[in-house]
Amino acid sequence: MRLLFLGDIVGRAGRNAVVEQLPSLVADRRLDFVVVNGENAAGGFGITEDIHQAIVDAGADAITTGNHVFDQREALVFADRQERFLRPANYPAGTPGSGSGLFTARNGARVLVVNVMGRIFMESLDDPFAALDRELAACPLGEQADAVVIDFHAEASSEKQAAGYFVDGRATLLLGTHTHVPTSDHRILPAGTAYQTDVGMCGDYESVIGMDKEEPLRRFLTRVPGERFSPSRGPATLSGLAVEVDDNTGLATAVAPVRLGGALSETIPSFWVD
Ligand code: FE2
Repeated sequence: MRLLFLGDIVGRAGRNAVVEQLPSLVADRRLDFVVVNGENAAGGFGITEDIHQAIVDAGADAITTGNHVFDQREALVFADRQERFLRPANYPAGTPGSGSGLFTARNGARVLVVNVMGRIFMESLDDPFAALDRELAACPLGEQADAVVIDFHAEASSEKQAAGYFVDGRATLLLGTHTHVPTSDHRILPAGTAYQTDVGMCGDYESVIGMDKEEPLRRFLTRVPGERFSPSRGPATLSGLAVEVDDNTGLATAVAPVRLGGALSETIPSFWVD
């Protein structure tokens, strides 16, 4: 099975890049399953139902989120009816939506997607490690799930690295989102789980984490807030991670970054080239 995870979509630039490029990636690269983090897709803050639908129509099988999940209030409503939409599993009981979902890939495989959020330099939430244990026990790899994809939405590299080892051998892929900068430590951990500390964003990298650079820079220089942050509108880079999966074990056999367009150097997995 062939998986693709695309990092946090930031604003219109990121959205357009995904909507324009994902359909041909799915077809030409024969992708069986695609997960996209969409929590910054609407003006940099949250996601609307229309945008969610556009990303699903482009080929996303599940959409994960994080700390900005409910910035657009309508997400509080559609989170319960859009089954491909996930919010962190370690939110308090009673939070709208679901933290995990079991989906059918194009090759017929059952893919569990879990979304959790870290606690270091983030808001205080339930223990993400306990949430992962619970979700993996409820739908184990090799039993009810043929593959398991985990989006660990977090600020601290240490917390994401620890989470990778925590699920090693129990998931196909655990990667980090939220920092919007791709790390170069993508690899397969000793027990077979693909890992990357942060997958980066789908957005304009000539920016400060996807936002127009003037206002963030002004705040660093003066500490006085002025304009609100707005997403940078230059050409976006599609940033993601591709994983080849052993259909017998559900563990990773190959992993490589995907970067297309915009300011970053382009790269395509060698195992995508026929
Ligand atoms: Fe975030």
